[in-house]
Amino acid sequence: MVILCLKSLVLFFMITMAVSASDLNGSATPFPALIVFGDSIMDTGNNNLLPTISKCNFLPYGKDFSGHRPTGRFSNGKVPSDLIASRLGIKEIVPAYLNPELEDKDLPTGVCFASGSSGYDPLTSQLNSVLSMNHQLVLFKDYKWRLKEYLGEANANVIIEKSLFVVSSGSNDVANTYFGATIRRAQYSFSDYAKFLVQSASSFVQELHQLGARSIAVLGLPPLGCLPSQRTLAGGLQRDCVSLYNQASQEYNSLLITELKSLSNRFSGSTIIYVDIYNKLLGIIQHPKHYGLEVSTNGCCGTGKFELGILLASVPAVIAFGDSLIDPGNNNVLKTVSKCDFPPYGRDFPGHKPTGRWSNGKIPTDFITSYLGIKEYLPAYLDTELKDSDLLTGVSFASGGSGFDNITAKIAFANVLTLWDQLKLFEDYKEKLKVIVGEEEMINIVSNSLYIVCAGTNDLAWTYFTARLRKEYDLPSYIDFMLNSASSFLNDLYGLGARKIGVIGISSIGCLPLERTVNGGISRDCVDSHNQASLKFNYKLITELERLASELPGSSIVFMDVYDSVLDLIQNPEKHGIQLLPS
Ligand SMILES: *[C@@H]1O[C@H](CO)[C@@H](O)[C@H](O)[C@H]1NC(C)=O
Ligand SMILES: *[C@@H]1O[C@H](CO)[C@@H](O)[C@H](O)[C@H]1NC(C)=O
Repeated sequence: MVILCLKSLVLFFMITMAVSASDLNGSATPFPALIVFGDSIMDTGNNNLLPTISKCNFLPYGKDFSGHRPTGRFSNGKVPSDLIASRLGIKEIVPAYLNPELEDKDLPTGVCFASGSSGYDPLTSQLNSVLSMNHQLVLFKDYKWRLKEYLGEANANVIIEKSLFVVSSGSNDVANTYFGATIRRAQYSFSDYAKFLVQSASSFVQELHQLGARSIAVLGLPPLGCLPSQRTLAGGLQRDCVSLYNQASQEYNSLLITELKSLSNRFSGSTIIYVDIYNKLLGIIQHPKHYGLEVSTNGCCGTGKFELGILLASVPAVIAFGDSLIDPGNNNVLKTVSKCDFPPYGRDFPGHKPTGRWSNGKIPTDFITSYLGIKEYLPAYLDTELKDSDLLTGVSFASGGSGFDNITAKIAFANVLTLWDQLKLFEDYKEKLKVIVGEEEMINIVSNSLYIVCAGTNDLAWTYFTARLRKEYDLPSYIDFMLNSASSFLNDLYGLGARKIGVIGISSIGCLPLERTVNGGISRDCVDSHNQASLKFNYKLITELERLASELPGSSIVFMDVYDSVLDLIQNPEKHGIQLLPS
């Protein structure tokens, strides 16, 4: 994570943003609201509410903020989101959208969706368990919906159309995910990675435009090689700026400038601008005294230690529970019609064989295990060819058609494994493992493994909305029922020894092919109200996971936004302008 020294950033942002604000001010109508997306430069406290260790809700952060309280801002005082808003005369501080104290009256002047440690690369936010850019867009949709409820549709639309949108992301991708870790460097040259990031930035801006934004400012990268952390790590004894990283920033920035120009031409009637922070910041770093600063090479307000541990260190095995998204073939051996062990499934799998995976190729758990360097594929526990040695590095108990609601597996999908059936198999797995490696090592593996849980989609999309098997519930009470069930499952899993648990949120169910066909009318549209249900569920799930994690000693339980972002990236690499998987 990049801990930026925000005291100097703040100054330079005031200058930069004054310029860009007047660039955007052509229409002579003041902006009614400021809406912000991105990373720690902009985050006003969203990470407080996330199950992540990337937080700044403790002193000395916030020591110069009003009331001297840490708010979750990655700064001693205000962050650029606040400064821009007050500069534009909108309001003094921009509230974090996830702040539970947010009130309806805060909505019309704008909110902040940014999340420290996030990036355009979905892997960046996934590694840190923070809000991906996609997730921020999901929350923005929720915001729009709340705004409509509050002000009426017409007024809400006017606010969205006239607001200033600011996007600041990419620093963590380049400094940490690319240069700080190995996976992306093994896959991409820097030029290709920069293209990939700029493509993601471009898709993000296009989606914002589609959602009604008309004035969008996108920040470039700062001279990353001059950040205090990079100087310490790679700047030698003199702690010089690291020119390799500065060149990387410049390469990315020039691609971004070109891309934003082309978007701006394409969307006439919109203002889409690039905000240079590279040259202004470099000027300040090189001539701090001109700007009233004494020191520009050290961080001013961090706690002096690295504040991000890596949750994923030393994971011996991956163990999965859930539904078709992560079922590698357990259903093949069940007496059920919910199977896909026939072509075209598996078309792009090695040997082009249908394995029972509900996919043309790999599924998310395969991607996660290979990312962790454990193995290429996470096998099905019920696979008849499973070997003893496979157990040591993990298996999947997931069963296509399962859900948090037991009747989803039993009735709606005709006899697949419920989550609790899967837990029984897990107990069986532990016994087998004990025979192979002895009790002590079994306990060691079980407590250090990464557990992936993925369920809920079938409950909402099928059991509730389509088959209507839960008529006794209205939607809010069914969502609460699902959450209770998820919570009791996670408690049981913890009881069996699991400690590191990632829970995959559910996707926009209203856009699933099945939903479009059954509920989308003649034109097979996405079903908006059903997408809204996914949002509500995910939103409440995040809160519930944080509560659980604080209640269960020694646990890390995190929300993972794998479906929307990583999966899409894997399945549609060309859409992201990239060949992701080594062929
Ligand atoms: C934007 O324009 C309005 C109206 O002309 C003006 O009052 C305001 O000061 C301008 N803001 C900036 C930052 O230039
Ligand atoms: C689902 O079934 C299991 C036993 O098979 C039970 O322990 C669990 O409480 C059930 N869950 C719900 C939400 O009813």
